[in-house]
Amino acid sequence: MATTITPAIPADIGRAVIDPHAYGAWTPLLDQFDWLRSNGLAVGKVTAADDSHEPFWLLSGFDAVMQVSKDNQTFLNNPKNAVFTLRSGDALVRAITGGSPHLVESLVQMDAPKHPKLRRLTQEWFMPKNLRTIEAQIRAIAEDTVTRLLDAGSEGDFTKLVSSPYPLHVVMQILGVPEADEQRMLLLTQQMFGGQDEDLNQSGIRNLPPEVITQIVSGAVKDFEAYFAALAAERRKAPAGDLASVIANGTIDGEPIGDRDTAGYYIIAASAGHDTTSAATAGAMLALAQDPAQFALVKANRALLSGIVEEAIRWTTPVQHFMRTAATDTEIAGQPIAAGDWIMLNYVAANHDPAQFPDPRRFDATREANRHAAFGAGAHQCLGLHLARLEMRILFEVLLDRIDSIELAGEPARANSTFVGGLKRLPLRWKAV
Ligand code: HEM
Repeated sequence: MATTITPAIPADIGRAVIDPHAYGAWTPLLDQFDWLRSNGLAVGKVTAADDSHEPFWLLSGFDAVMQVSKDNQTFLNNPKNAVFTLRSGDALVRAITGGSPHLVESLVQMDAPKHPKLRRLTQEWFMPKNLRTIEAQIRAIAEDTVTRLLDAGSEGDFTKLVSSPYPLHVVMQILGVPEADEQRMLLLTQQMFGGQDEDLNQSGIRNLPPEVITQIVSGAVKDFEAYFAALAAERRKAPAGDLASVIANGTIDGEPIGDRDTAGYYIIAASAGHDTTSAATAGAMLALAQDPAQFALVKANRALLSGIVEEAIRWTTPVQHFMRTAATDTEIAGQPIAAGDWIMLNYVAANHDPAQFPDPRRFDATREANRHAAFGAGAHQCLGLHLARLEMRILFEVLLDRIDSIELAGEPARANSTFVGGLKRLPLRWKAV
């Protein structure tokens, strides 16, 4: 029988790809992905010398990431964690949940047959036709946010003034969360997604032990669950036609969806819906601040608006990875994979694959055929992608109307996070029109 040699990812790259600070530093990580692809390791195995995590296949090539994303029968979300976790974190989650690897049971932790049924409940709500009914509401929030930016003077942290509050406010309005509770939701989301970053988890401590991070995340999940249980009860009594009501009153096969599924739905919409869009928005502003000629070009030519939005999402890649588990023995790009193997879809790497994107590190609002991997693909492709694009297009319309020029006013900083990443600080100076 022919033996196959397992392509091993070098230890330093294996460590980087699961190190939150490597995503904070960014450029060296992109260099490592380039090295992997040019050395035939677009599909390679990461094994921890200290056995701190289960071995996994790292996919850094665009085609491999797409192949796996689109094959939802062979590559599952549920059997193991859908987001990378160390063994210690995984053990703690299982102890908390009584055996499940998932703290939250939401769409991204599910497979068929349940996943499509649950997804169908809100699919129509997220389509462009329905979103048109809330476009004026989103525009009003964008106008307000930019007014607050201009009122703040001519210099400040764009993430605090615009890119963080704007999508948060939109998604909270959609979910019917009162404005007074928004800061609490922001904190909870940052703890859930940014648990690894000392600023975002509010600890101020670099390299917190994984058990402590898991406890922070688990505390955030409990708070979210309690909050949304009360909201769902209100919407059952008095449906309001908003997304919150669609979820609260959802049924599958004639039965109301249970409390855990309801909570999971709210949590995924509340959390997936803003830090991601924030990151892409801030990314576009950084790119435009660094390239005044491109800022002038898009300001003069609004046909490039959708180009800015799409390129911002690719260039930033706010969701940096998801994991899958092989259901059967199979192959990825010719590499044999065994049933039960854990696989990392690295969207950052896929979106910087030069075979798919010429000069991938350059932000180019005129990039043609920008079919990126940032929203994933297949059955789990981002449910909120039309909403994210709409929010960003409207905000950039308003910003380009009301701002004449922008420049960097200090050092930007990226979040130290392996999962949802992007800028956590963007000091800018601007001139109003
Ligand atoms: C630029 C902004 C965003 C990015 C980059 C992004 C990215 C992603 C990615 C990569 C996935 C997983 C795809 C896969 O497994 O193939 C996902 C799933 C999801 N996203 Fe987004 N997202 C964004 C904005 C939003 C917004 C605004 C919402 C809703 C308010 C949202 C809701 C969801 C939901 C519910 C899922 C789970 C879908 C499923 O598993 O069936 N996202 N997103």
